[in-house]
Amino acid sequence: MDHQTVYVVDFGGQYTQLIVRRVREFGVYSEMIAWPDAAAKIRENKPSAVILSGGPRSTLEEGAPDLDFSVLEGIPTLGICYGMQLMAHRLGGKVEAAGHKEYGHRTYKPVADGSIVDALTSYQVWMSHGDQVLEAPTGFITTASTDSCPIAAFENDAKHIYGVQFHPEVSHTPDGKTILRRFLFEKANLKADWTSQTFIDEQVALIRETVGDKKVLCAVSGGVDSSVMAALLIRAIGDRAVCVFVDHGLMRKNEAEQVIETFRGHFHANLKAFDEKDRFFGKLKGVTEPEKKRKTIGEQFVCVFEDHAKELQDCDFLAQGTLYPDVIESGSPTAAKIKTHHNVGGLPDWMNMKLIEPLRWLFKDEVREVGRMLGLPDEMVDREPFPGPGLGVRILGEVTPERVKMVQDADYIFRSVLKERGLNKGIWQSYAALLDVRSVGVMGDERTYEHPIVLRAVESEDAMTARAVAIPFDALEHIANRIVNEVNGVNRVFYDLTSKPPATIELE
Ligand code: XMP
Repeated sequence: MDHQTVYVVDFGGQYTQLIVRRVREFGVYSEMIAWPDAAAKIRENKPSAVILSGGPRSTLEEGAPDLDFSVLEGIPTLGICYGMQLMAHRLGGKVEAAGHKEYGHRTYKPVADGSIVDALTSYQVWMSHGDQVLEAPTGFITTASTDSCPIAAFENDAKHIYGVQFHPEVSHTPDGKTILRRFLFEKANLKADWTSQTFIDEQVALIRETVGDKKVLCAVSGGVDSSVMAALLIRAIGDRAVCVFVDHGLMRKNEAEQVIETFRGHFHANLKAFDEKDRFFGKLKGVTEPEKKRKTIGEQFVCVFEDHAKELQDCDFLAQGTLYPDVIESGSPTAAKIKTHHNVGGLPDWMNMKLIEPLRWLFKDEVREVGRMLGLPDEMVDREPFPGPGLGVRILGEVTPERVKMVQDADYIFRSVLKERGLNKGIWQSYAALLDVRSVGVMGDERTYEHPIVLRAVESEDAMTARAVAIPFDALEHIANRIVNEVNGVNRVFYDLTSKPPATIELE
């Protein structure tokens, strides 16, 4: 690869992923590496710069996350929070337990002219720490102080080593980006040589080299990730990318037809489409438990591939739309399992295919940018994330064709009104779901005893956290009226106000 790389060493900090994103926003390629592997990776790959993340532990504890600093010799390094404390600890300074935790906004005083934290518009920063540096190592000067943290930043400019006790990567530190930019471009002399075009060129070359003259099976769902993946494969190997769309009957209203049309019309005339609605509904009969639904749907995908074995058998590779957050998450064995987000189970033996994951280095917004560069239409690139099991996890209780139709119709009204009124901008996901209870209502002087629809619209950056969108009341009222009047079997509409956490984005 002919671009520079910045490694972000993860010591378990809650903002480590964000540091990677910030660096990439400057056009510099960055990767997160876990601290136990860091020394070996840095020694082997010689990154152009290293950033040491924050972390929840204390450098003073036995067995605390650590790093062999000799590997950083000659590599510009920035330590953030725990990363700064570890610098002090390892390079001959002193760290102390501060006696109290410092958390929240603070304002520092720059105390050295010309440092990376000097001459900014704002000295307000976000702090979140227990320990702090008591003595800087020999050769370092203190560059920032706060009332409670005399060494809030330090540096050894000659050796290109910088430390900040606060978090420049979070938006609560208004000038944090300037500090990061100074480190990357003025101190580490990086070039901003990583763009969507570089990514496409590198991946196209890599796919050609990996695949040779073989074929790749590429399952598309109509979602951003699989569409961009397919477009990348087609760019690299043309028709040897065998694209397959399985219609499980759980897409939004008219969506399956639209996906097929857009694909065939825009960039892949040979898309194979399998209509498997009956199979999925058959297997979902009586299944109500969320994880069982996911498992059933995942298994049926595999069965579809098995049944179409003849058409697909000559593929040696299977493309999977794994993204960077999935790669990072799967390296974190401590996270509790709330729900299964990756639904396709083990592949049957006959498939015996090698996996390729061309998007495994990208965040979602970067995937969208690559999609635009590859010429995908806006409706594909800007599509809201949609779960693999589709409406299956938006229908509480049994999934039947009738209940799917209710959700499709309500969802269509909700999303069309948002769009018509220009209220869909900035929404991460919006949808209608069906609850598995009934309530009493009155319509045309008659008693009704029917089902409620829940509307949900959230803002989010990465689906890890989310917040309900403040949709104007008159729009909600209009949508509720239309749904109750136009969708058979529905007599009430709720709007879900819960954020994630404590709720999740999907109801199941
Ligand atoms: P939750 O509901 O966990 O969702 O807050 C986070 C993100 O993941 C999507 N999601 C899924 N995607 N298969 C998928 O491919 C699934 O089973 C699944 N469940 C949730 C959800 O739409 C949101 O974007």
